[in-house]
Amino acid sequence: MNPMIVEHPLLQHKISLLRNKQTGTKEFRDLVGEIATLLCYEATRDLPLEEVQIETPITMAKTKVLAGRKLALVPILRAGMGMLDGMLTLIPAAKVGFIGLYRNEETLQPVEYFCKLPTDISERDVLVLDPMLATGGSAVDAITMIKKRGAKHIKFIGLIGAPEGVEALRTAHPDVQIYLGALDEYLDQKGYIVPGLGDAGDRIYGTK
Ligand code: PRP
Ligand code: URA
Repeated sequence: MNPMIVEHPLLQHKISLLRNKQTGTKEFRDLVGEIATLLCYEATRDLPLEEVQIETPITMAKTKVLAGRKLALVPILRAGMGMLDGMLTLIPAAKVGFIGLYRNEETLQPVEYFCKLPTDISERDVLVLDPMLATGGSAVDAITMIKKRGAKHIKFIGLIGAPEGVEALRTAHPDVQIYLGALDEYLDQKGYIVPGLGDAGDRIYGTK
């Protein structure tokens, strides 16, 4: 499946602000949340609707509501947490699970340290959140863990991806639709996305 690059002007503007190294921690964190909301709008475009009848102040009307599809949000710690509130703004009833992974700085391989998912994850449509899709190792492992617990409908939502990460994720999980705000050029020797925005977790939380 080809990745969906969300080219809405508001989103592109906000990603440019994120990329700027002068952008400070508070503004960066706010922007990540706002971009997540815009990506959520796009990633939920295919939610099924059902018709209901209601009474407006004027007359009876047939109208549409969400058909009760159950959703789960799974941010990959730490940086994925920065996207959670922005997603919950639009889908407040979603359940939330957490996967803790960090990249070993030498090998670039993901190291798992936490996994807590809703017990009924197998019945839910799952949106996996992580701002950065670099080598793709973290996203691939997180989605493998979620599939092992029975989930069948999974989407990955990120702010910026590298071609290498998109390819790795598509190869490992061809059924997973990828939504990104931008597809960048390549990875540098340390596995950072170029031009990218630097280390997302450090910029969201002001560490380093
Ligand atoms: C970052 C990012 C992804 C991962 C992407 O997390 O948030 O989880 O790197 O890289 P990959 O596609 O090569 O796996 P990091 O490991 O820096 O942990 P953090 O979020 O705790 O800072
Ligand atoms: N993780 C980040 O936070 N940034 C990158 O560019 C690559 C991985």
